[in-house]
Amino acid sequence: MARTLITGGTLVNPTGGIAADVLIDGETIAAIYAPGAATDVTAETVIDAAAKYVVPGGIDPHVHMNLPFGGTFSSDTFETGSVGAAWGGTTTIIDFGLQRPGEIVQDRLAARHDEAAGTCAIDFAFHMILGDVTEEALKAMDELVTHEGVTSFKLFMAYPGVFYSDDAQILRAMQSASNNGATIMMHAENGIAIDVLAQQAVERGDTDPVFHGIVRRSALEGEATNRAIVLADVAGNVPLYVVHLSASEALAHVAQARDVGRNVFAETCPQYLYLTLEDQLGAPGFEGAKWVCSPPLRTKHEHHHADLWNGLRTNDLAVVSTDHCPFCFKEQKELGVGDFRAIPNGMAGVEHRMDLIYQGVVDGKLTLERWVETCSTTPARMFGLYPRKGIIAPGSDADIVVYDPARTHTITHETAHMNVDHSSWEGFTINGGVDVVLSRGSVVIQGGAFHGRPGHGKFLARDTNGYLS
Ligand code: URP
Ligand code: ZN
Ligand code: ZN
Repeated sequence: MARTLITGGTLVNPTGGIAADVLIDGETIAAIYAPGAATDVTAETVIDAAAKYVVPGGIDPHVHMNLPFGGTFSSDTFETGSVGAAWGGTTTIIDFGLQRPGEIVQDRLAARHDEAAGTCAIDFAFHMILGDVTEEALKAMDELVTHEGVTSFKLFMAYPGVFYSDDAQILRAMQSASNNGATIMMHAENGIAIDVLAQQAVERGDTDPVFHGIVRRSALEGEATNRAIVLADVAGNVPLYVVHLSASEALAHVAQARDVGRNVFAETCPQYLYLTLEDQLGAPGFEGAKWVCSPPLRTKHEHHHADLWNGLRTNDLAVVSTDHCPFCFKEQKELGVGDFRAIPNGMAGVEHRMDLIYQGVVDGKLTLERWVETCSTTPARMFGLYPRKGIIAPGSDADIVVYDPARTHTITHETAHMNVDHSSWEGFTINGGVDVVLSRGSVVIQGGAFHGRPGHGKFLARDTNGYLS
């Protein structure tokens, strides 16, 4: 088995940073040595990490490759999206199987496996979206948890008529989760109320992209988040993971629930930490469509950004995902010219998450350890992948990023690798950058080149939520 030695770097795990050398044997981490202690160790490959950080590969637990939405499909395949992820230091993605009304959960999971098989450049796993909570779907939840390594289910309080579940369906799915140990992931926006406001806006002639953000009020995210928390408690304190949290009101409900010991967790995404309703979604003309996602970017005149960074610091926000869901501006976002309701929801970001959150470290908003924790270790633990993933320790998969704090780069569409015709992060400067990426011991990125292979990535059957066991 080929051995690789990473020498001279600062190894950063959530417990802290230490000077150390890391020995990889085949696909796993074999040993960690104090500086100078590995002088007799032989390895076919040596990677010099002097003056660099050596961190666990990023885990993005919320991405959508080739997702059907609004009459089109998100523009990354498992191949293109996973290659983009690798460039940005992410070595595991968790996407979703999608069950819609009338569909059989197991069939839809099998179809997703078929799509991903042999194409992913990094390891991958699945959650399951339940868009039709029937008796059969509830039984399928048990089967997926027990036999398929799919231990988390996303429900939507938004998008009536598409993915939406009503409170009865949500409660039933939560009751099922309380029996089988699954985690319920919730898209928490009051979609019924939003649709009323959206209809009224269009009737007034307010059809530009910015009205997508104006009608999807933060109070309606707060209300739905609280409702989900109450329903999860009624179902027996079932683990609830609030996805893509964007608003101070929602965070306050999560924090309150956690303070009284509820099994409530939440993630946010870089777009909710950096971008705003005014500066991006409110760009002139139809330009703002590039930033139409749900929940929407929030106003800069309130304190959402500051509250969310603070939530990440205090662990009320445990995870940073991207909710990567790219749509090209041409022909995809353009479906909504003249009516913001027809703009496909989502933006690309899987390639930039590690950099953007590292920038939070540079800017003094997070510690290095918290960067590693929110972007790798906690997603691994939350979704049953720890300690195989999310930590640099003997026995763990050798998913490792050598990160260079001395590099500065500016994000542009021209140099990014995701399959989308624009960048939501155009012009953002990052004071750091990915140097080397290894996935299960194989070099995927090095010297500014991709050395990986579509199909290298393996499906990961997951355990249940590691914060409850
Ligand atoms: O705008 C978004 N978030 N698109 C992806 C689907 C979802 O709700 O996560
Ligand atoms: Zn969602
Ligand atoms: Zn999503």
